[in-house]
Amino acid sequence: MTARIIDGKALSAAVRAEVAERVEALRAQNVQPGLAVVLVGEDPASQVYVRNKAAACEKAGIHSRVIRMGQDSTEAELLDIIQQLNEDPDIHGILVQLPLPGHMNTAKVIETISAEKDVDGFHVNNAGLLMTGKPLFRPCTPYGVMRMLESENVNIRGAEAVVVGASNIVGKPMALLLLAAGATVTICNSKTRDLGAQTRRADILVVATGRPGMVSGDMVKPGAVVIDVGINRLEDGRLVGDVEFEEARKVAGAITPVPGGVGPMTIAMLLVNTLEAAERSAARLHQAAL
Ligand code: GUN
Repeated sequence: MTARIIDGKALSAAVRAEVAERVEALRAQNVQPGLAVVLVGEDPASQVYVRNKAAACEKAGIHSRVIRMGQDSTEAELLDIIQQLNEDPDIHGILVQLPLPGHMNTAKVIETISAEKDVDGFHVNNAGLLMTGKPLFRPCTPYGVMRMLESENVNIRGAEAVVVGASNIVGKPMALLLLAAGATVTICNSKTRDLGAQTRRADILVVATGRPGMVSGDMVKPGAVVIDVGINRLEDGRLVGDVEFEEARKVAGAITPVPGGVGPMTIAMLLVNTLEAAERSAARLHQAAL
């Protein structure tokens, strides 16, 4: 069997087209959705991500404001900028690109973002809302994976889902979204004793470890849906995921490629979250005017 390739690029384009239509509807009501992206320092990968996020916003009709701060900026300066953005009525979403320089307290920075503008879904309030089944913003990458599973008509209810990686950004929220959709979920971490024994049970396998080759073909259950969240640059310049793609595609039922899989979906869902923040803000203004 050769797996079906899940085309994240095509699905992302469809989602972005949907967003552009809803943005148009908001603009017709004189509401211009706006996203602020804050980048601290010169990390080359972060610079590329921020540029791509801003470009995707503009293409969908969402205004983007990129705020670049030097590597030596203080935490107080960053918190001050976030507070100004919290109060700015033209800004509906705020994203602080991670990782931050080592001298900053990431948790404190994230908790300073207004939960209603936290389009990454990283604020503890949003993490708590997700955990209790009442999500406001779902973190973009796991949200994008759910959209992919939906578009592939994957049966999640009652499925065995295994998530490899337990980060706050991907692994943990991914597990919560799969659980809410009715899967039986296992979360693996770097201490998991026999990773293959876990992954081989998975009808849905999501891998987000940041380690190329973490999951080989023999660790995949025949017919499984394999979602590879990893993006790793090898020394020879090649971009690969965390799954051995060529081996795994011979075993899986469906699989995401890298690049062109989960990556484009993350940006598409950031646009969805920003649009929805602007829609909620417009509804609040409308309510207040009545
Ligand atoms: N760095 C890597 N992934 C992300 C993300 O999804 N959001 C932010 N803000 N920073 C990141």
